[in-house]
This record gives sequence, structure tokens and C-alpha cells, in this order.
Amino acid sequence: METTQERPGGRTVLTYGTFDLFHIGHLRLIERLTAMGDRLIVGVSSDEFNAAKGKRSVVSYEDRAAIVGAIRGVDLVIPEHAWEQKAADIAEYGVDVFVMGDDWRGKFDDLEELCEVVYLPRTVGVSSTEIKQMLRALDPAHLDELQSAVTSLTNLLTHYRDLT
Ligand code: CTP
Repeated sequence: METTQERPGGRTVLTYGTFDLFHIGHLRLIERLTAMGDRLIVGVSSDEFNAAKGKRSVVSYEDRAAIVGAIRGVDLVIPEHAWEQKAADIAEYGVDVFVMGDDWRGKFDDLEELCEVVYLPRTVGVSSTEIKQMLRALDPAHLDELQSAVTSLTNLLTHYRDLT
């Protein structure tokens, strides 16, 4: 097994994510990561990497990185450009523990050769995708669609009443 080089200052924790529309699940994750070590590095997915994953974030990489970097306990933000960079980042930054939410359970077990790998439970009931879906429901175009559906239904009911 390859050994990792522990840097001065103790245990280094590394995670990755998109962190779009930063929410309470993201905050709770970072709080737990902070408690797991002495230095926290967060890889934030670049817009290009998100596109390659078929994802499109509402907030730009620059802004997502600035928001994550401003959270207490985050020592360094690095861009995540590709799936394969994790092993190189672990070596470069002397990472002791690599942590992901348990939606990724088992997916990164191969990194156990390089450092400890931990999957944390997600905060229940919130995700960027759900927030986007809720915002989409408020989109004026959808309100127009809803309104025209209500109008059609009202006309239908009026017609039905006239027939009876
Ligand atoms: N996360 C979490 N609890 C949540 C949402 C996310 O602990 N309710 C964690 C994920 O497990 C991941 C990190 O936050 O380790 C970044 O997740 P990200 O994919 O950016 O957030 P999601 O809200 O899951 O976004 P999406 O819906 O686009 O997948």
C-alpha cells in the first residue's frame, strides 16, 4: 500500500462537489468535514466538467468556488476538471482522508490504496436539483401554461353545465 505524506498541521480532508445553489445540505457536509481534520480542501466542479457530466449549474464556477471558499473551515478550493484527478490531488496535497456523500458509496473505494475513504450520509430533503425544479415551477412560462390549463378546464366545466 502506498503511504500518504502527512503535511505539518495534521490531518488533511478532501472532498469534491458541484455546490450549485449552495444549501443547508452543503453547509452540514462542510461542517462535518471540518470536524474530521485540520485542513479542508474542497474540489469544486468546473462548468466544463459539469457539462461533461450532463449537468448545468445555475451559478458559475467562479461564484460557486468563492462561496465554498468563504465557508468557515474551508482552507482551500481547487477546480475539479476530471474524474481521474483525484489520485493526483491526494498525492499533491498530502490528503489523509477523502470524503464524499453516501450517494457516492462504493464509487471511490479504489482510492483506499492512497488514503482513508469515508462516505457521509446526506442531509435529507434538500438537493440542488430539487431547488432547480421548484424554481422551474415558478417560471412565468409555466405559470402561463398553468393559467391556460385552468381556463380550458373552466370552459369545459361551463360547457358541461350548459349541456346538463
Ligand atoms: N450533499 C449532502 N446532503 C445533501 C446534498 C448534498 O450531504 N442534501 C453532499 C453530497 O453528497 C456531496 C456534496 O454535498 O458530497 C456536494 O453535492 P452536490 O452534488 O453539489 O449537491 P446536490 O444538492 O446533491 O446537487 P445535485 O442535486 O445537482 O446532485
